[in-house]
Amino acid sequence: MAIIEVEDLRAYYGKSQILQGLNFEIEEGETFTILGPNGAGKTTLIKSICGLVKTEGSIKFKGEDISGLKTHKRIAKGIAVCPEGRKLFPNLTVEDNLRMGAIGGDSDEMLEMVYNLFPKLRERRTQIAKRASGGEQQMVAIGRALMSNPSLLLFDEPSMGLAPIIVENIKDSLLKMKDEMDVSILMVEQNVKMALDLADKVAVLVKGRFVKEGDRSSLGEVEKLYFEI
Ligand SMILES: Nc1ncnc2c1ncn2[C@@H]1O[C@H](COP(=O)(O)OP(=O)(O)OP(=O)(O)O)[C@@H](O)[C@H]1O
Ligand SMILES: [Mg+2]
Repeated sequence: MAIIEVEDLRAYYGKSQILQGLNFEIEEGETFTILGPNGAGKTTLIKSICGLVKTEGSIKFKGEDISGLKTHKRIAKGIAVCPEGRKLFPNLTVEDNLRMGAIGGDSDEMLEMVYNLFPKLRERRTQIAKRASGGEQQMVAIGRALMSNPSLLLFDEPSMGLAPIIVENIKDSLLKMKDEMDVSILMVEQNVKMALDLADKVAVLVKGRFVKEGDRSSLGEVEKLYFEI
């Protein structure tokens, strides 16, 4: 069953149209990654799914059209975001940042799950977030999104600003997460390695349109095309 089905999605800031009619669906447990250069509309797509920009077209989540719902209602239905630039609470501890992501349920149990996925965060639990390294801060942002036990996780450029070795670490944690948890993923990225190593299917977004789409067998082609843009 598809966790999300998007049809003819158009997004606007005022009169300026940014997404030009996107169509895709993500099956349960699947990871869909979208590669696109600066300004392609990646963040706008993430915001569209969360209800943070004006959209037209349909967004079905678990079969229900959510395109008219406010952001908090979409989150309550099982969508979580790991936003561009992490957006942590800089003066709170690592653990308090994580707890901010919990909505109802047993937050101790989810916290334990996050610490098992990112053992580094257990060591850093009492550290003030702004003093954690870039990689640790990204892990906090991912962990915070997981705290609501979402069925769809949206990632906005998790590799941004991180050294290649740290990107590898984060990618390995995400592969482990995919293995251990029942979660579907939509990720937008500029980092080809992060995007393609996680992908079950992939698309390239340019100026608000998909210019190429494919499954794992077409990753090579997609990579080549992306570098030609
Ligand atoms: N709040 C806004 N008001 C008006 N235009 C905006 C706004 N936010 C983004 N845009 C425009 O929408 C287009 C897509 O922006 P978006 O942030 O979605 O791109 P992106 O693919 O996430 O880029 P980046 O890789 O730099 O994060 C750009 O032309 C941008 O200037
Ligand atoms: Mg962006």
